[in-house]
Amino acid sequence: MMLKTGVVSALLLLGACLGLLGAAAEEIIVGKNITEDARWTADNTYLLTEQIYVKEPAELYIEPGVTVKAETFDSRGYTTALIINSGATIRAMGTRDAPITFSANQPPEAMQNARGLWGGIIVLGRAPTNKGASDAIEGLSNATFGGTDPDDSSGEIHYTRIWHGGAELWRANEINGLTFGGVGRATKVDHVEVAFNYDDGIEFFGGTVDLKYVSLLCNGDDSLDADEGYQGRVQYLLVVLCKDIAVGDDSLTDHAFEMDNNGKDYTASPRSHPIISHATLLGPGSSKDGCDRKVKHSKMAHFREGLGGTFANMIVAHSPAGFMFEHFQDAGAANFTQGLSVSGSGNEAFPDFLYLSPSNVLFNVDDAVHSESDIEPPTIQYISQDPQLANVDPCVDGREDADLFDPRPAAGSPAFSDLDDTLSDDPFFDKVGFKGAFNSSDLWIAGWTWWADQGKLPQTQQETAADDAAEGGVTDGEGTSAATPHTRPASLMAFMLTSVALVIGMKAVI
Ligand SMILES: *[C@@H]1O[C@H](CO)[C@@H](O)[C@H](O)[C@H]1NC(C)=O
Ligand SMILES: *[C@@H]1O[C@H](CO)[C@@H](O)[C@H](O)[C@H]1NC(C)=O
Ligand SMILES: *[C@@H]1O[C@H](CO)[C@@H](O)[C@H](O)[C@H]1NC(C)=O
Ligand SMILES: *[C@@H]1O[C@H](CO)[C@@H](O)[C@H](O)[C@H]1NC(C)=O
Repeated sequence: MMLKTGVVSALLLLGACLGLLGAAAEEIIVGKNITEDARWTADNTYLLTEQIYVKEPAELYIEPGVTVKAETFDSRGYTTALIINSGATIRAMGTRDAPITFSANQPPEAMQNARGLWGGIIVLGRAPTNKGASDAIEGLSNATFGGTDPDDSSGEIHYTRIWHGGAELWRANEINGLTFGGVGRATKVDHVEVAFNYDDGIEFFGGTVDLKYVSLLCNGDDSLDADEGYQGRVQYLLVVLCKDIAVGDDSLTDHAFEMDNNGKDYTASPRSHPIISHATLLGPGSSKDGCDRKVKHSKMAHFREGLGGTFANMIVAHSPAGFMFEHFQDAGAANFTQGLSVSGSGNEAFPDFLYLSPSNVLFNVDDAVHSESDIEPPTIQYISQDPQLANVDPCVDGREDADLFDPRPAAGSPAFSDLDDTLSDDPFFDKVGFKGAFNSSDLWIAGWTWWADQGKLPQTQQETAADDAAEGGVTDGEGTSAATPHTRPASLMAFMLTSVALVIGMKAVI
């Protein structure tokens, strides 16, 4: 513990000496709940040592570029976490060039592809759930959520990445990377990434919060989980499932989506009705790909117990199975349809249907619908053409270990035809001319995601290499021109890796 803190301080000191992190970089230990407005500033690093609650009516403001590290366990032996109580506010104000990072307090080499090194972030609010107003997060003291205000605000989260978390919060109860409990739609969330979480990536317990530009990568359980009456909207979602990893008795890598309404009462109101458009869901490989991996559940989407919803403009690729329907026969199951003509306002008026667009693309998916089901599995319509994504081959050592990743479709891809305009009346959704999360130009994961930091995105890698050459192999984090702002985090990471090696090397000598 002392040694790690020492390394971090030494690293910060070194960074400060080189003018990288400013003059007065400090490691601030966050060991007390936040009960008054607080601001975390980019010149410091913050170390979570406890489960930290931001309590009503306090606001936690996090500046662009802040790094938050967390110990694995708190002083009681439970995992660390940041919990934003109902009535409290988070403002995580990252930008593409200065994202906010939540990660573990470990050296980079110990974190590479590792999961469960700390807990996660839990945001709570007073929007409706179908479990009443006194729902609570199990394993936490007094973390109640839910209420009657769909327009509630818990603040805003922009350009924030949450990595390597998901440690056990409570007996056999791991924590999601980002949990939203009863969070209302006045909360603004865009550009968030959860990568290498042990449990789910993002989970919604009820609520109405909308998300745009979401990256979910290599999470151990479901990537996006919704239940208890979640009624929000999601546009531009990238899910990448990774190769299977066994950790102890657990076989990791689960579904891209696992969603239900309420396991005890399938008709509970409000009914879960996520509206998801423009998703690219990349599975772990299929027999059509020639690398059918033995993953835990092998279906991309698991729809259960009374789920409604709208799933349109999706590209789903590389998986043994596409969709699984479970517990749909019982009373109250939502009507499955591929033919409803629904409008945005109609979704709220008639929530009790599950609409899967017939123009979703399913490519190299062995079975579109998984055969085990307690309803006669519907025969679904979809488009089976190759979406021609630039560089997403799951067989290259699981994709996440490959040198390059690029999920943009080539010109002429079926991503650009037969668009589903079911949601054209809903002002939340941008009207764009493609399916999946990306068009052929805007690689919105550049600059701020794990992919960018690892130098796996095409431009980033080339430009970083050019920067390195121009600067004699030393990057100073400011060496990128205005035309290539997204290269900075990659350079920064390379610099920090070098610095850690340097510091460790120095320690060894001392
Ligand atoms: C923080 O608040 C929680 C919930 O109210 C409480 O259980 C915990 O003891 C508090 N932690 C500290 C360090 O005061
Ligand atoms: C638990 O929450 C309730 C309702 O917000 C509050 O009245 C009570 O004081 C809290 N108890 C603790 C121990 O924090
Ligand atoms: C399903 O549709 C039928 C007729 O189209 C309707 O009678 C029934 O109420 C619907 N069920 C639900 C749960 O919406
Ligand atoms: C590409 O998609 C983005 C949304 O991610 C949109 O803002 C942009 O206008 C699109 N560009 C083209 C050329 O379609």
